[in-house]
Amino acid sequence: MNQQDNIKKAKIFSIVNQKGGVGKTTTAINIATAMSAIGKKVLLIDMDPQGNASTGLGVDVGERHNTIYEVIIGQIEASEAIIKTKIPNLKIITSTVDLSASEVELVNIEQREFLLKNSLEKIVVDFDVIIIDCPPSLGLLTLNALCASDSILIPMQCEFFSLEGLSHLLNTVGLIKDNLNQNLAISGIILTMHDKRNKLTEQVEEDVRNFLGDKVYESYIPRNVKLSEAPSYGLPGIIYDSKCTGSVAYLKLVKEIIKKEQI
Ligand SMILES: Nc1ncnc2c1ncn2[C@@H]1O[C@H](COP(=O)(O)OP(=O)(O)OP(=O)(O)O)[C@@H](O)[C@H]1O
Ligand SMILES: [Mg+2]
Repeated sequence: MNQQDNIKKAKIFSIVNQKGGVGKTTTAINIATAMSAIGKKVLLIDMDPQGNASTGLGVDVGERHNTIYEVIIGQIEASEAIIKTKIPNLKIITSTVDLSASEVELVNIEQREFLLKNSLEKIVVDFDVIIIDCPPSLGLLTLNALCASDSILIPMQCEFFSLEGLSHLLNTVGLIKDNLNQNLAISGIILTMHDKRNKLTEQVEEDVRNFLGDKVYESYIPRNVKLSEAPSYGLPGIIYDSKCTGSVAYLKLVKEIIKKEQI
C-alpha cells in the first residue's frame, strides 16, 4: 500500500431524480447541513442551472463569481470556486443559469462525462462528504455527477407516475455502472413530501418498499410548510426551524445514512 492509499477521500453522493420538484434540493441542503452540524467537513455542489441550492443556502446571484460552470469548462480549479456558507463546516460551489450552456458547449469534448470527476480529484481529500444537487434531467450535467459519485440518493414523491420514473432512473444508473462508473452504488430512495392522510401515498409507499426492500430508507420526509418557507430566508429547514416535523425527519434520515454508509 503506498502513502496515497492512506489518505481519506470524501464520500461523494449525487442527489438525483430526473423528475422535477420531488425534493432533491431540499434534501441536498438539509442533509449537507445536518452532516456539517455533527462535525463532518461537507461540500455541496450545485449542479443545477436553476441555482436553487445556492439560493437556499443564502448565496445571492450577485455573489456567485466563480461557479461550477467555470470549473466544468476548465477555466478555473474547483478549489477556486469553493465558498463558505453561513453554516460552519459547510462549503458550496454555486451555479447560475450559465451552467445550462455547458450541455451544448461540451458536446464535442472528449471524455466529457468525466469533467466533474477530474476537476474534483484535487479537493476530495479536503472533505468528508461531497453532495451534488442534480438538475431534473438525465443530461450531461447529471451524467457528470453520476460519473463523479460513489453513491446516489434518490428523493421520490409518492405519486402515481413516480414508480415509472424510478425504474427509468434505475435502468440509467445500471447503464452508467456497466459503462462509465463501476463503483456507483445506490445508497437509497428517500420518500419525500409524504402525506400520511393520503391513500395514494400509502399505496405507492407500499409498492416501492415491496419492490425495492432495504434500498428504501425507513425514515421518510413529511410534507411540511416550514421546509418550503426556509429557502426564502436563505436558510436550510433544519436551521430555520429545527423542531418542525420536516427537520426532525431529516435529522433522523441523516443518522440512518451515516450508519448505513459508515461515514
Ligand atoms: N417535505 C416538504 N414539504 C413541503 N414542501 C417541500 C418539501 N420538500 C420540498 N418542498 C418544496 O417543494 C418544492 C420542490 O422542492 P425542491 O426544490 O427541493 O425539489 P427539486 O427536486 O430540487 O426540484 P427541481 O427538480 O426543480 O430541482 C419547493 O418549493 C420546496 O420548497
Ligand atoms: Mg432542485
